[in-house]
Amino acid sequence: MKKPFTPLAMLAVLVAFALVLFGCEGPAGSDGKDGKDGKDGTTGVLNLEGFAPNINCGSCHNPDIDTTYFLWARRYQWERSLHAYGGDLERNGPDCAGCHTTEGFIERWKNNFATQTVAPKSNPSPPGCFACHSPHSRGDFSLRSSNPVTLASTIVGYSAATFDYGKGNVCAQCHQPRSLNPRPDTSKYAASDTIVITSSRWYPHYGVQAQMLMGTGGFQFRGTAYENSGHTLNTAIKEEGCVACHMASQVYPPDLGAGRGGGHTMKIRYSSTEAATDTLFVLAGCNVSGCHGTGGFTKATLLASEKAIEDSLHSLFTLLRQRNWVTASGSINASTGNPLRISPAYRAGALYNYFFIEHDASRGMHNKKYTQALLNSSLQALRTP
Ligand code: HEC
Ligand code: HEC
Ligand code: HEC
Ligand code: HEC
Ligand code: HEC
Repeated sequence: MKKPFTPLAMLAVLVAFALVLFGCEGPAGSDGKDGKDGKDGTTGVLNLEGFAPNINCGSCHNPDIDTTYFLWARRYQWERSLHAYGGDLERNGPDCAGCHTTEGFIERWKNNFATQTVAPKSNPSPPGCFACHSPHSRGDFSLRSSNPVTLASTIVGYSAATFDYGKGNVCAQCHQPRSLNPRPDTSKYAASDTIVITSSRWYPHYGVQAQMLMGTGGFQFRGTAYENSGHTLNTAIKEEGCVACHMASQVYPPDLGAGRGGGHTMKIRYSSTEAATDTLFVLAGCNVSGCHGTGGFTKATLLASEKAIEDSLHSLFTLLRQRNWVTASGSINASTGNPLRISPAYRAGALYNYFFIEHDASRGMHNKKYTQALLNSSLQALRTP
């Protein structure tokens, strides 16, 4: 049986490379000092991406001299992100591993993100450094991809949308919807139009943040105007997307979240230590010129703004409960044996919007005006006799 790759073995590899790179070598052979450029190896399982030529291992693998990448600090931050500890990496089958594992994401990238489906991944690892970057093959931390992302539409009557928010595009490769069946239809207003829902998870998965930010993907009722908040078109956000707010830098001063918020934790809400129950926010990304200015946006402003959305979402839940479309625990009251029939079908848009906003999980912060308009129109659709 093969031994696992222990830390000691890693160290041995590092030392071996270091010896080669730092000059403890003999005279150059006929292929010159660095040898011939070989082909990247294959293991039969994955194509090895290999190492960039002349890569200096110690420039990253050394907390003392690495004041460029601060790899160890970033690793510490990442370990405190849901990416590392969320635990959903056992979603490693063909339909799931493309977003829930590093190995699956790399496969999608190799395939130009043509599909969400990948080969199943045994012994998977969660979305980590090598998902978003390829430090060994490139010798730096550039993003694997920052191409614009096509977000499929899960509503009849709308076409797919193109998400283009610079560095944030890499996030949208995973924080995007999956498919939905049956799809709600914005034209079905007749009393005889019925939609039959047979799944308690009748929603396009959980990663709807990219859609929400750009103001698409909600069920827009006839005759209602929908607007976007300043976030959708703000210049800084157009360049960095999710990164602008979720990855505020950890440069001292000030002391931002001490590795527990911002940076690679990607958290805005955090607590000060592992044991603490306090609630703190990294708002450094908000309080910059061109956005909310210096100190303009505080924890109190944020909580007040979120409260309005939470209240409306709660009212919507109450109406869905009254119709018995959702259970007390919040899942959709439907299965193949117990189908949920909604007529006129357009009203299912209210159920759809409830989960769209719930799963966005920003309590309106991504796009307040759009969120509030979706909530108001959904409430109205359910209140219409
Ligand atoms: C540009 C930065 C960078 C350089 C240069 C670099 N590495 Fe890495 N390496 C990383 C990162 C990031 C990780 C994953 C971090 C972690 O898990 O701690 C990693 C992980 C590793 C691992 C752990 C096994 C694995 O695949 O996760 C080994 C072994 C390793 N590197 C060897 C090397 C060797 C040998 C060199 C020089 C030939 C090198 N690295 C150069 C960034 C770098
Ligand atoms: C490889 C796919 C992938 C990429 C790329 C990705 N994410 Fe995630 N993200 C996930 C998954 C999967 C989860 C949930 C993890 C779990 O539950 O195990 C998650 C969770 C999160 C969470 C925590 C949500 C919560 O409920 O606390 C935040 C915040 C987040 N991602 C932000 C980002 C940002 C910002 C980017 C881009 C810089 C990004 N993600 C890129 C897959 C990805
Ligand atoms: C297109 C990318 C993508 C695919 C494919 C995908 N997921 Fe996810 N999934 C995500 C993201 C992103 C999150 C985290 C969203 C968040 O926290 O806001 C997530 C979250 C989850 C969660 C946690 C939900 C919660 O809030 O507790 C579960 C469970 C889950 N996915 C299961 C699956 C399963 C099962 C499959 C395959 C049938 C799958 N996922 C396929 C992107 C994906
Ligand atoms: C979910 C995606 C994601 C994951 C996982 C991730 N990063 Fe990053 N990383 C980013 C984004 C986005 C940036 C900002 C890019 C920029 O500013 O150019 C970034 C920036 C960086 C930078 C700064 C780059 C520079 O040139 O200044 C370093 C270093 C870095 N990451 C290291 C890591 C390490 C180490 C890990 C694993 C512990 C990791 N990243 C995991 C998305 C990710
Ligand atoms: C304008 C700033 C901003 C942008 C841009 C932004 N977010 Fe957020 N996001 C927030 C705020 C604020 C919250 C709510 C924090 C809270 O109250 O816990 C949030 C919440 C979330 C959550 C819920 C989990 C958590 O950590 O609380 C996820 C997941 C998330 N954002 C992912 C993303 C992704 C992916 C993108 C890019 C498509 C993105 N965000 C863009 C500000 C932003």
